[in-house]
Amino acid sequence: MSRYKVAIAGATGAVGREMMKVLEERDFPVSELIPLASERSEGHRLEFRNREVVVRRLKPDSFAGVDIALFSPGASVSREFAPHAARAGAVVIDNSSAFRMEHDCPLVVPEVNPKDVELALKGRRIIANPNCSTIQLVVVMKPLHDAAGLERVVVSTYQSVSGAGQKGIDELEHQARALFNMAEIVPQKFPHRIAFNLLPEIGKDSGNGYTDEEMKMVNESRKIMGLPHLPVSATCVRVPIFFCHSEAAHLTFRKPLTPDQAREILRKSPGVKVVDDLKEHIYPMPILGAGDDDTLVGRIRTDLSAPNTLALFVVSDNLRKGAATNAVQIAELLARDYADKLSAKA
Ligand SMILES: NC(=O)c1ccc[n+]([C@@H]2O[C@H](COP(=O)([O-])OP(=O)(O)OC[C@H]3O[C@@H](n4cnc5c(N)ncnc54)[C@H](OP(=O)(O)O)[C@@H]3O)[C@@H](O)[C@H]2O)c1
Repeated sequence: MSRYKVAIAGATGAVGREMMKVLEERDFPVSELIPLASERSEGHRLEFRNREVVVRRLKPDSFAGVDIALFSPGASVSREFAPHAARAGAVVIDNSSAFRMEHDCPLVVPEVNPKDVELALKGRRIIANPNCSTIQLVVVMKPLHDAAGLERVVVSTYQSVSGAGQKGIDELEHQARALFNMAEIVPQKFPHRIAFNLLPEIGKDSGNGYTDEEMKMVNESRKIMGLPHLPVSATCVRVPIFFCHSEAAHLTFRKPLTPDQAREILRKSPGVKVVDDLKEHIYPMPILGAGDDDTLVGRIRTDLSAPNTLALFVVSDNLRKGAATNAVQIAELLARDYADKLSAKA
């Protein structure tokens, strides 16, 4: 079996560290791992497969001989450095929003639109990983759409602080400690206190009353599902938990679909676990989803307020399926089905 030289740009961040863990857990055939980050982290040591690897500074010439470059250094850094990696012959899988809506960069969730990777292999060699809250929604929507034809989506999210990176995790921890110690709280990463609070603002004001996180859910769902006019309305809320995003979704279909039919379809769908027995208090929760690569779905019921509509609750680990796992699954897809297009030496 071929082995691949893999670079991780953003290796010291929340997603980068998780990508290293997922590569190791899923036994991806790595011949050499090159962790890259900013000059702040140059020389830091990380562990991969029980060995220390030394973080190098991300530079334009960091990618010689690299086959796969997993990127998570943030959108502006990805925009600058991903083209260098692609020019050096690597296939880039980028977690940021930099390339997601570009027409020649596919936006891929392997359970939903695996063939879209071919667009990148024919051209720019950059594949975008969708936003975390979008990934878990489309994994559930796609099989239901195939069965009944999706016509409208209304979704509210409950997104963990790790969605805002390591600084988000640190801020909730510091604020929770400070509150118990009656110390002063000065919000830094989030606009208000996040500990024991909710913030109905994720990302910037996009100018139409929605935040850009909400518009990502609209535009990215349409692109991944191949439904450019799908009506989607999202409300994204940051909640004071560390890991996992949760979503309450109302999905309207062209054809009627009962909750039992939906459960049956979802039980057979890749990457989905049905966790749904209200009488027994069984439903998706962040404490069940954290560390799991599957997307959990439950509370599936008929929406009594609208025809042909189901309400359901979806939970997924934003650092895993919402970022690292999805990126590594794309790498696995490339290694399995497109190995001849992968080698930087090819
Ligand atoms: N967190 C999530 O749930 C999630 C989900 C999906 C997508 N994403 C996206 O993934 C990206 C990273 O998110 P994260 O949560 O991992 O953030 P993070 O914890 O803040 O990590 C950022 C990483 O980027 C590196 N970096 C920053 N500036 C750099 C520069 N100028 N040159 C090289 N490396 C640089 C940092 O290195 P230093 O340690 O040296 O500063 C660190 O390794 C973002 O675009 C985010 O939107 C995140």
